[in-house]
Amino acid sequence: MAQPEINIFNTVSELTDKLAELFYHHTGNLCQHQKTVNIALSGGNTPQLLYKKIASHRAFSAQVDDWSKVHFFWGDERCVPPHHAESNFGMANRYLLQPLNIKETNIHRIRGESRPEEEAVRYSGEIGSHVATRNAIPLFDWIFLGLGDDGHTASIFPDQISLLYAETICSVAVHPQSNQQRITLTGKTLINARRITFMVTGSSKAQRVKEILNDEPSARLYPARHIRPLRGTLEWFLDKEAAGQI
Ligand code: 6PG
Repeated sequence: MAQPEINIFNTVSELTDKLAELFYHHTGNLCQHQKTVNIALSGGNTPQLLYKKIASHRAFSAQVDDWSKVHFFWGDERCVPPHHAESNFGMANRYLLQPLNIKETNIHRIRGESRPEEEAVRYSGEIGSHVATRNAIPLFDWIFLGLGDDGHTASIFPDQISLLYAETICSVAVHPQSNQQRITLTGKTLINARRITFMVTGSSKAQRVKEILNDEPSARLYPARHIRPLRGTLEWFLDKEAAGQI
């Protein structure tokens, strides 16, 4: 199992510059060697600046020789319509996909406006028909994740930690405070990825980051601690606030 590679930056701006550069470089490499490249994006606030940076660093985009190979999925979605302020698709579309002119056929969004149970099944099917498998589990090339103050990632929350072991590709989850319904990739799908990148910023995350990266016993309660690729790369991109206690 992969040991995490930890990258710490003085500022969020430096972090997102580096990750934007890496995004083009690695995606370009994958395009050189594969017919299709499947990337799952994260939601929440933290990746917004990254998506804006990727869209603005057009000088690097030449590294990707054929964007029609690159397909975008989501690690999770809030059960809201696509134009809703809390839509993870809406945010990524606005700051990344539209600026990069990504074709609609390459955008595989979770339909947050649909009935959650039905959408979890439908999205599992969409992933099943587009993403190759390893051990009969979808094999994403790259999954971006965040970390909640409670140790959740994607929409796998501490009080629904069984979603780490669910047999399905996607499941319905419920945000423990807001009761907002969510659709999330399950743990088995996440840890099967070739590359997992956590992007975490801000002092409110420092305690959880410390517990998880120091593998403290308390961290076993946090879903993010269990997301370690079986056969892939695991990396954490942190600003100095989030890394303040490690
Ligand atoms: C979501 C995310 C979730 C997020 C964390 C961190 O839909 O909310 O996918 O897992 O990454 O909650 O959120 P922030 O980046 O907003 O702190």
